[in-house]
Amino acid sequence: MSDYIIAPSLLSADFARLGEEAVNVLKAGGDMLHLDVMDNHYVPNLTVGPLVCEALRKYGIKAPIDVHLMTRSVDSLINDFAKAGATNLTIHPESTDHVDRSLSLIHKHGCKAGLALNPATTLDCLEYVIDKLDLILIMSVNPGFGGQQFIPAILEKVKKARALIDNSGKNIRLAIDGGINADNIHKVAEAGADMFIMGSAIFTQPDYAKTINTIRNELNK
Ligand code: DX5
Ligand code: ZN
Repeated sequence: MSDYIIAPSLLSADFARLGEEAVNVLKAGGDMLHLDVMDNHYVPNLTVGPLVCEALRKYGIKAPIDVHLMTRSVDSLINDFAKAGATNLTIHPESTDHVDRSLSLIHKHGCKAGLALNPATTLDCLEYVIDKLDLILIMSVNPGFGGQQFIPAILEKVKKARALIDNSGKNIRLAIDGGINADNIHKVAEAGADMFIMGSAIFTQPDYAKTINTIRNELNK
């Protein structure tokens, strides 16, 4: 399968030059931008709001923007990020009292909807909302920071999520987020992921094109 998506996570980019970094990483072969939204309540870190998403659009970014909401509540942010130009909106089931309603709200705005599962969150929460999902995001670190180590037990979960998607017959992306690099990406793809969110593995390297190229070669091995 060559239909892999590489989504560089801007969390590890140089925020003082965010527009430039976004353009460069897309030119280097990134398929879409992953934007991590943290509120210092749901996760112990604070990042950006819809203003930054809108600024990237105004700067000329045409590629899809994959917004990952790690916030205590999501519905008003869903409205704001949709207006700010988000393509995908992914939420954690723990951040809303009404997962089904929040997913419908994402679709109402014409965005793609994703559900993100923390390392300790089981796949059960997918059962009754699978029809409303365009994306399942498996967290392979605890959310909040870039540059953490991949949790090996998550490989098994990726396999189970792949089976669930295949059984559903739906066209749902299976994304992995956290600690992905050229050394482990092949294994994760084998387990069934087809979208790879990568922050530090790309942005700590001097040559983004060379790095993304190496990653794609690993995927297509
Ligand atoms: C972590 C974020 C990730 C983060 C991944 O909470 O959701 O998107 O940027 O960073 P790396 O690839 O460095 O683990
Ligand atoms: Zn993320």
